Amino acid sequence: MTAYDVMQISPIVPVIALEHLDDALPLAEALLEGGISIMEITLRTEAGLNAIGKISKSLPQMNVGAGTIINIDCFKRAVNEGAEFVFSPGINAELIQSSFDLDTPLIPGVATASEVMLALNNGIEHCKLFPAISAGGVEALKSFSGPFASMHFCPTGGINIENMNDFLSLDNVLCVGGSWIVPKQAIREKNFAHITELCKVALGAIH
Ligand code: 3PG
Repeated sequence: MTAYDVMQISPIVPVIALEHLDDALPLAEALLEGGISIMEITLRTEAGLNAIGKISKSLPQMNVGAGTIINIDCFKRAVNEGAEFVFSPGINAELIQSSFDLDTPLIPGVATASEVMLALNNGIEHCKLFPAISAGGVEALKSFSGPFASMHFCPTGGINIENMNDFLSLDNVLCVGGSWIVPKQAIREKNFAHITELCKVALGAIH
């Protein structure tokens, strides 16, 4: 799988900070039921790493990757656990090298022209825009499309059902990431049917 393949799986990439490992499979099943077959499980919670392992072993139809990959060590641990791809909030040479070494697609976060140039100079044409709204949102992406025509983005950070189409309608956006589709409260209440509904509503609202 390439980073392009990852960003083609779904127009919406759920960004998940899982509090309890037991919620991993019901959440993955709820997303599949709602039409979303990709998960970015962040490593910012204790349960994240094991959740990746559990889902990758039990639900092969779910494409599971890791998020909040901020150093080589967590990159390696995520891949060992079964992450098929990784997202990072930022970009640096070490993460890029790890992506080659571990033969695993890295979708790094960029927020400035210099960071886009670091990506492109290393053959990376698929990045997050992070944090999307505070980094300039739609206007930043339009500005990047001039000098960096080959770069494609997954804006993440502040995206919701109200503004997702502003991003998805841009030529240099393949998908958006967000946590709004997997509300913590719904997971705490084990209201997975609500998450399925949010997926269906969001996918149906894309135009
Ligand atoms: C994150 O890393 O938390 C993501 O950018 C999600 O941002 P969001 O909560 O604004 O969707």
